Amino acid sequence: MPKTTKAAVLWGVGEPWSIEDVELDDPHAGDVLVRMKVAGLCHSDEHAVTGDLPLPLPAIGGHEGSGVVESVGPGVTSVAPGDHVAVSFVPSCGRCRWCSGGMGYICDDGAKLFDLGMMSDGREAHHSKGHAVGRYAQVGTFAEYVLCSENSVVRAEKDLSFEALALVSCGVGTGVGSATNRAGTRPGDTVAVIGIGGIGINAIQGAKVAGAARVIGIDPIAFKREKAVEFGATHTFSSVEEAMAAVPELTWGVMCERVILSTGVVTGDLLDPALNLTAKGGTLVVTGLAPMMQQDVNLNLFMLAMLNKEVKGTIFGSGNPREVIPRLLTMYREGVLKIDELVTARYSLEEVNQGYQDMRDGKNLRGILVFD
Ligand SMILES: NC(=O)c1ccc[n+]([C@@H]2O[C@H](COP(=O)([O-])OP(=O)(O)OC[C@H]3O[C@@H](n4cnc5c(N)ncnc54)[C@H](O)[C@@H]3O)[C@@H](O)[C@H]2O)c1
Ligand SMILES: [Zn+2]
Ligand SMILES: [Zn+2]
Repeated sequence: MPKTTKAAVLWGVGEPWSIEDVELDDPHAGDVLVRMKVAGLCHSDEHAVTGDLPLPLPAIGGHEGSGVVESVGPGVTSVAPGDHVAVSFVPSCGRCRWCSGGMGYICDDGAKLFDLGMMSDGREAHHSKGHAVGRYAQVGTFAEYVLCSENSVVRAEKDLSFEALALVSCGVGTGVGSATNRAGTRPGDTVAVIGIGGIGINAIQGAKVAGAARVIGIDPIAFKREKAVEFGATHTFSSVEEAMAAVPELTWGVMCERVILSTGVVTGDLLDPALNLTAKGGTLVVTGLAPMMQQDVNLNLFMLAMLNKEVKGTIFGSGNPREVIPRLLTMYREGVLKIDELVTARYSLEEVNQGYQDMRDGKNLRGILVFD
């Protein structure tokens, strides 16, 4: 059993990820230790670096990933050593009111996601240079070993690739679910996706799978628009304004029944243009994260009411990890969803800062860390 793990740790806002050894406890009751295989570089970790998401620091980054269970603490029943797991940033205890009501994505354990102590018993189980170390979303997948709660892992079939297992745990689940579960795309809809990163590209393929007649991808970067077409977009535009000039004619004045806002950073000024793109009676889903302290939104409330529109938030595409992760993997296995094609670049743990630079530069649909 490892007493230390190499991990990417953030010590301060605006600093690079620091690769260092973090000391780990043994798994206690309800804990599992996972030897990581793959971790995805999602924009949500970047929000901790910019300070938009004020994470207690120091903390290990990463919340998308997969690996093999190395050992388990007392009382763990859902996984055993040797099992392949997706590491889920959304915990699901299976017992709280929300989990038992079919809304595992808002499990009560979510309240502990940014605690320093373990989800299981609150103890500080990770240390570096004399400091207790947090983990992004109680997992911290940018590490060779992840010590987390049993509630944060979902077992998967062993023949599937670890890359697929990692990507369904955030990007694929969040994007596909935003278009299907949360926006409620129906056959024949026109769906617009604003921001084509690891999340938006999956909203595009989710809309396609749900039967959208037109899927509109909006991103200022030409590479992202090309990828959008490969994943099912029928039309692309470089900005919402450009889309606004074309969509009325394209849809005979109907506009988009569903709009998913998945830009890297959501700001209040993006809401009104996105709602203008939304059809009467349509749904705007806000999937991208805004700075945590942001309160102000630019929105025409008269039009919201009189055109009977709705604006919805979503975490993990409003999917239950234990239900949705195996379901998405089945869709991947049968060729309904593309997952291998999402990976633009592979990095070692030491190259994590380069991976994020490539994300900032708009070069990656999804970058991933691969552990030996
Ligand atoms: N709700 C959830 O559960 C959840 C889960 C994961 C990620 N997220 C959030 O989703 C967002 C997207 O994450 P990602 O990993 O796909 O990011 P990403 O950086 O890979 O992609 C973001 C894309 O948005 C584009 N963009 C930026 N500003 C734009 C604008 N004004 N109009 C159109 N496109 C614009 C960028 O060019 C880029 O291609 C982030 O805010 C992330 O934190 C939310
Ligand atoms: Zn994510
Ligand atoms: Zn629960």
